[in-house]
Amino acid sequence: MVDINARERLKLMLGGVSLLALGNCSGGGGGSNSTPTPTPTPTPTPTPTGYQPSSGLLRNTYRNNFKVGSSVQTPRIDAADTSIDLLKSQFNSMMAEYEMKPNALAPREGEFDFSAADRLVDFAEENGLEMHGHTLLWNDSTPDYFFEGTRAEIKARLENYITQVVSRYRGRIKSWHVVNEVIANSDSEPNAPYSDTTWYRVVGNADFIDWAFVAARAADPDALLLINEYTTEFPDKRARLLQVVQDLLDRNIPIDGVGHQCHLDYRDTAQSVLDAIDAVDDLFAGLVNHITELDVSVYGDPGSCWENQTGCDPDFGANLPDSMQATQAQLLRDIFDGLILRPSVENVSFWGITDKYSWLNTSPTTRSNYPLLFDRNYEAKPMFRAITDRNYEI
Ligand code: XIL
Repeated sequence: MVDINARERLKLMLGGVSLLALGNCSGGGGGSNSTPTPTPTPTPTPTPTGYQPSSGLLRNTYRNNFKVGSSVQTPRIDAADTSIDLLKSQFNSMMAEYEMKPNALAPREGEFDFSAADRLVDFAEENGLEMHGHTLLWNDSTPDYFFEGTRAEIKARLENYITQVVSRYRGRIKSWHVVNEVIANSDSEPNAPYSDTTWYRVVGNADFIDWAFVAARAADPDALLLINEYTTEFPDKRARLLQVVQDLLDRNIPIDGVGHQCHLDYRDTAQSVLDAIDAVDDLFAGLVNHITELDVSVYGDPGSCWENQTGCDPDFGANLPDSMQATQAQLLRDIFDGLILRPSVENVSFWGITDKYSWLNTSPTTRSNYPLLFDRNYEAKPMFRAITDRNYEI
């Protein structure tokens, strides 16, 4: 049995139902995550340090290497939240955290609601940010009606959905996460190398992946088409992903690159992330690599925490040790130092801007997490300074 980590163990036990089905929203193939779980801010904000980064410091530090982005939620724009000021001043790329998922865009058969997505794409263009599309197909955000009917009807419905969505934003979206989290977490899963998703079961094989990429290419020939996956930093998971990518390429299915989610925790190593980039480069010259959902959790939970919120690391509350921040800062500095040496890396995006609104404040359990570059007071943290100032002593 391959040694797998907590998140992967949960996937196995729940038959492919996402972690989010427990953490943030009701479960099942149609995972209802079209709106974010209200993110509690259970801790007071830290004492301001007075450090204010100059405008553009983060994106300019990497302007010769890759775009630096973040996921964005429309309620933050509506509220003119300070995090949006940080998005505009420090980043040059963005993607929707949930507004461009199938259950947000097409919650009921035949009904499209592009209002939130339109606003995000307009916002990106108005503020000079590259826009990326997350995500055309994700088991956890697929309304159940997508799975109804014959195989031919399922195929036609998916092709129509992708054509409608991708055509609408043709020429405005730099890349699409065409499929998200479709790779098995263990060789022992029934459909390995593919994850045992509802998509796989109703289609009977992985043809839905082909259908998605082919439809996306036809709808926008210029958009980069990515397969997006988590825990690519684990060699066994990565091996299955690369096997699937090789198969797609062998059959001339249009794919342009790999999205590495990189939901890390403080125990991870920079080398494991860089090895994931190198593995793609070694096998598939010409494919791009994107880091798509970067955050660094301060907790290293056992499987039971993801499974039923038991055994979770205790909540730091407002008392995050400086040593943990230093560990996170060093990890991120080492990762970015490696990424700038890898030309295939064209985008590095965080899954959020401020700890205050991180999904990790409610997944896998409700507690204070500190995974992002800015704290609950919108102040730049050691992680930010570590990747923007060589002279900053961690
Ligand atoms: C999460 C969002 O952060 C939440 O707001 C939403 O409720 C559920 O989805 N992997 C992914 C992302 O690819 O789409 C998920 O985002 C986090 C895990």
